[in-house]
Amino acid sequence: MQYQSPFENWYTYSTVHKPLPDFTCETGLVLFPPELVPGVGHPLVDKLGNHATRHLMMRKLESYNAFTEKLEYKAVMAASIKIAQDPQAFGLSEQAGREARLIVTDESHHAYVAIELIKRIPGFSELPPLAPSQPPFLRGLEELEKSLPTEFADDLLIAFVAISETLITSILRGIPRDPRVVNAVRNTVRDHCIDEARHHSYFVYVVHQHWASSAPDRREILASLYAKLIRLFLDPNIDLCRAWLLEAGLDPHDAEVVLRDYYSPERVAAGIRADSFPTLKLMERVGVLDHPTARPAFVEQKLID
Ligand SMILES: [Fe+2]
Ligand SMILES: [Fe+2]
Repeated sequence: MQYQSPFENWYTYSTVHKPLPDFTCETGLVLFPPELVPGVGHPLVDKLGNHATRHLMMRKLESYNAFTEKLEYKAVMAASIKIAQDPQAFGLSEQAGREARLIVTDESHHAYVAIELIKRIPGFSELPPLAPSQPPFLRGLEELEKSLPTEFADDLLIAFVAISETLITSILRGIPRDPRVVNAVRNTVRDHCIDEARHHSYFVYVVHQHWASSAPDRREILASLYAKLIRLFLDPNIDLCRAWLLEAGLDPHDAEVVLRDYYSPERVAAGIRADSFPTLKLMERVGVLDHPTARPAFVEQKLID
């Protein structure tokens, strides 16, 4: 696939060159779309009163932004630096390698804005810090790395980042246009989306080239890895949600009821399929799904039937 730079107008349109978003938090508006926050709207949480709902929303926003920061620092920037330093290793053009440095800059800015946003949410400073824990995607990447021959460590990281950069999650899709959500959050997500549209086309190219330039042994590994990586990125962090529900005032039994209702297997599977739709189509286009080990892996991860 020919590299067509999505960064031609980078100095004009990238959000790192713009002022910080307007961080206004209007009273009466919500911090997050209620249907994306486990427990909000559930009768067991409603019984606890408004403060519980506000608490859950705050935790959701906090975790979304903390996740963004970790993903940018630990995965996307790390992968983009590898690409910048050795584009040929993944079948990428010299120009694509040079421009990976612009992605490093974009992502560093996204991490900065994500944390600034949390700090400026009224009432956030009164929240007790949650016990620090490693996000599941980092644990999952470590485990996958151990299961692979060492020479594929970089392929794992590039494949994971290519997946995460080509997915379009319901958060990115919906929030900028959601009039129920405070401007601080809508503006931040909108800015992030503008840059991510460019990264999306860049990583479509990366997936094409990574696959096309791979020898049969690397294809064998990538074919089943992609399916696992999509699940790893999109699987909900249920332990974290449980901690928020307990903190909001539910007893352990009621917290489990809420989690079971919100994260029913059908609902989780439908959400993952919707979010991964563009990536699944890409896997088809690139030819990954024609590989004999890919299809069973995608079926096993419940991404396709
Ligand atoms: Fe980003
Ligand atoms: Fe990105």
